[in-house]
Amino acid sequence: MSDDLLAGVAARVAEYQSTLAGRPVPARAGAAELQAMLGGELPSGPTDPGAAVTALVDAVDAGSVASAGPRYFGFVVGGAMPATIAADWLASGVDINAGAYVLGPVAAVAEEVASTWLLELLGLPGDASVGFTSGAMMASFTGLAAARHHVLAKAGWDVERDGLQGAPRVHVVVGAERHVTIDSALRLLGLGHGTVHVAAADDQGRMQVPALREVLAECDGPTIVCAQVGNVNSGASDPVGAVCDTAHEHGAWVHVDGAFGLWAAASPALRAQVAGVERADSWTTDAHKWLNVPYDSGLAIVAHPDAHRAPLRLPASYLAPAPGGHRDNDEYVPESSRRARGFAVWAALRTLGRSGVADLVDRCCAHARRFASQLSAIESVEVLNDVVLNQVVVRFGDSDEVTRRVIAAAQAEGTCWFGGTVWRGVAAARISVSNWSTTEADVDASVAAIRSVL
Ligand SMILES: Cc1ncc(COP(=O)(O)O)c(C=O)c1O
Repeated sequence: MSDDLLAGVAARVAEYQSTLAGRPVPARAGAAELQAMLGGELPSGPTDPGAAVTALVDAVDAGSVASAGPRYFGFVVGGAMPATIAADWLASGVDINAGAYVLGPVAAVAEEVASTWLLELLGLPGDASVGFTSGAMMASFTGLAAARHHVLAKAGWDVERDGLQGAPRVHVVVGAERHVTIDSALRLLGLGHGTVHVAAADDQGRMQVPALREVLAECDGPTIVCAQVGNVNSGASDPVGAVCDTAHEHGAWVHVDGAFGLWAAASPALRAQVAGVERADSWTTDAHKWLNVPYDSGLAIVAHPDAHRAPLRLPASYLAPAPGGHRDNDEYVPESSRRARGFAVWAALRTLGRSGVADLVDRCCAHARRFASQLSAIESVEVLNDVVLNQVVVRFGDSDEVTRRVIAAAQAEGTCWFGGTVWRGVAAARISVSNWSTTEADVDASVAAIRSVL
């Protein structure tokens, strides 16, 4: 592979990043055009690498949604800061297998360091263990695998050896407004999503502690409670300290899904919203959302490292353990071979520092409040949620039809992008501010664009 090839792609990526703010958000090309650009017969023999990669770069340019840009407010995506892109390139460029220390000590040590920094930044127990997963769903899978191990071991059952057939029933309690990926993780773990106990949530989507208490009274035996900080629509957090205390009185394990909301813990101004979160047993968060590192980057944090590792161990005679008490990264994620995704997390924390992460989080929340105050000043526009974090739920014309029309019209207008949802039974728009590069001017331009399509 020639130097020119690598430098050429780097230049195209740099150009893409620097023009992101001005790019139309939707992909220019659809499936048919992309098929034409990428498809055809399997080459019968080698193709020139430069030509092949250029074809891919052109397809990527045409077929990407500019979701990493500053006026993309759909889902909860974040962007990628330049230092984290560079760190991520390094992971591909050196191509070490980050699973085992012996295959690349730097990947193990980068994750060790980033783990220590993360725990400190988020105010979580310093002896917790951290796995660098592909995203929040796999982080919840990992945390809940540790939970399953722990509650069943307490009941005298070895789930890793004997599986779930014949095991004591594991009660799983979830909030009514949990994220869909909790159900998915439960399915993958053989715990099922149809047998959960559901604790009612309030009008912001927060689990209610009296409801949790009632539900726990029905749970006799091994129990796992799934709490949430940062509802995907409203941004509201469960009263997580009280949830932990109530669940622990019952002997339950508490897993907290904080895919984006856990970052509130890094902001002195917002930390009260997640007060007591450090008393949970395991946590999910994402770096590829609010920490603004490239995909794929989630974090599975467990207060009980033995329970974390128990379901994930890979004992094999040819795999030498890390020397000197260092970590083998594969002991903390449901993966063996993998890329050094910790590099980008390390780069984000090293470049932002404690105050930089707090600023990033606070800035996004200030932008969300700016959206809310400008939008709610417009007649026929209603902000449906308490804007406590980075999420704004908006309804137009007090009508599902008008709301859907305005969302579609705003998407077509192209200044910004946000999607739709159903919030408390009615259609609504969701505006999620989680990109490091969004400015007040981006918010103002987006509100003006929305106003123009009302
Ligand atoms: C609360 C919550 N949990 C989990 C997820 C899933 O995250 P991922 O797509 O990284 O698996 C999301 C995504 O928005 C989320 O908001």
